[in-house]
Amino acid sequence: MDYLLTEEQKMLKEMVAKFAKEEIAPVAREFEEKGIFPQEIVKKLGNLGLMGVAYPPEYNGAGMDNISYMIAIEEISRYCASTGVIVSAHSSLAVDPIYRFGTEEQKKKYLPALCSGERIGCFALTEPSSGSDAGSARTTAKLIGDKWVINGTKHFITNGEEAEVCVIFAHTDPSQKTKGISAFIVEKGTEGFRVGKHEKKLGINCTSTTELILEDCAIPKENILGDLNKGFKIAMVTLDGGRLGIASQALGIARAAIEDSIKFSKEREQFDQPICQFQAIQWMLANMNTEYEASWLLTYRGSLLKDKGLPYSKEAAMAKLKASETASFCADRAIQIHGGYGYTKEFDAERYLRDAKITEIYEGTNEIMRIVISAAMLK
Ligand code: CAA
Repeated sequence: MDYLLTEEQKMLKEMVAKFAKEEIAPVAREFEEKGIFPQEIVKKLGNLGLMGVAYPPEYNGAGMDNISYMIAIEEISRYCASTGVIVSAHSSLAVDPIYRFGTEEQKKKYLPALCSGERIGCFALTEPSSGSDAGSARTTAKLIGDKWVINGTKHFITNGEEAEVCVIFAHTDPSQKTKGISAFIVEKGTEGFRVGKHEKKLGINCTSTTELILEDCAIPKENILGDLNKGFKIAMVTLDGGRLGIASQALGIARAAIEDSIKFSKEREQFDQPICQFQAIQWMLANMNTEYEASWLLTYRGSLLKDKGLPYSKEAAMAKLKASETASFCADRAIQIHGGYGYTKEFDAERYLRDAKITEIYEGTNEIMRIVISAAMLK
């Protein structure tokens, strides 16, 4: 579907694909198996402008659009979905809210180091007892003198270990649910702020997924992000963009599953012919490709709407819903096509399936995506 891309977007795609094939692919399986965070790769991605694709050059961003961002995340995730979400959580969930809701002072202070990849960002909304019901979070922030004092525990935070700049949500008016939440920028190293438990996961094992613990963590008054008690909307708007990032990650996983299946089915011979000669395999490939292209078009549409400044909440939810289910479907079919080999760690198909599953869950489960879509339909 490259015919839908501009010359600039095509060049970006070629550049990221080359980088991902040369620098990410050779280490992807080993890093995932050993749970190694790809420090050097992230640094290089920063040098290439990929830690701030859709943000202006004045903040060290690449000055490109959201379709370019979608392309970059897909190409990275084609070889390593962990690296894809490291970049996506950083860009969509930390850089984006600071860029959209930050004061000029906050933007100048935080964005250049984030967009260059010198510092990594994270987004902390989820808590042990508040996942889908994000408004029920218990973390509080109280203004004491000229400091916000934050108390609470966030969990399942992607990039939690490495992030130096965290966008954190806390109740500033606990008597209100969604109308009493505010957003804050908290820096690593602040007294009373530490990383807690690390999760052991089914997939995306190069990423850290941690607790963030705030105990009387005092931050400057000016570190509130956006208006007081408007944090829930900041979280929702931010997640709309994040869902396009996760849809793009899912596209990368689906494409990996398809490309590996084509290669394997051409090489593997049974009953005196390559297995791709069998209609059973051809139909699986046809279904995989159809689902992938439908998902790509939905993600492209969501990104295009965002670039045009039009509403895209429903479209982002549709893109994530479809692309994540496609990633799981394609990875499952890839294992089937690879037969017994697909079930082993000699091939990547099993990694694709493990990585795909989380795209149906994080940044809003697919049940929440259906709520967002149907709410827009019934408005
Ligand atoms: N844009 C702007 N405003 C929005 C909005 C959006 N997309 N969605 C909701 N709002 C507004 C509503 O209009 C409403 O405003 P008013 O009070 O002025 O009317 C307000 O927010 C509250 O909305 P709801 O009443 O709909 O809120 P709710 O409590 O019923 O929750 C929900 C709605 C959609 C279920 C929401 O809680 C949600 O999205 N939950 C999922 C949370 C989530 O995605 N978590 C992901 C964590 S991050 C992560 O996973 C990162 C990672 O690891 C990579």
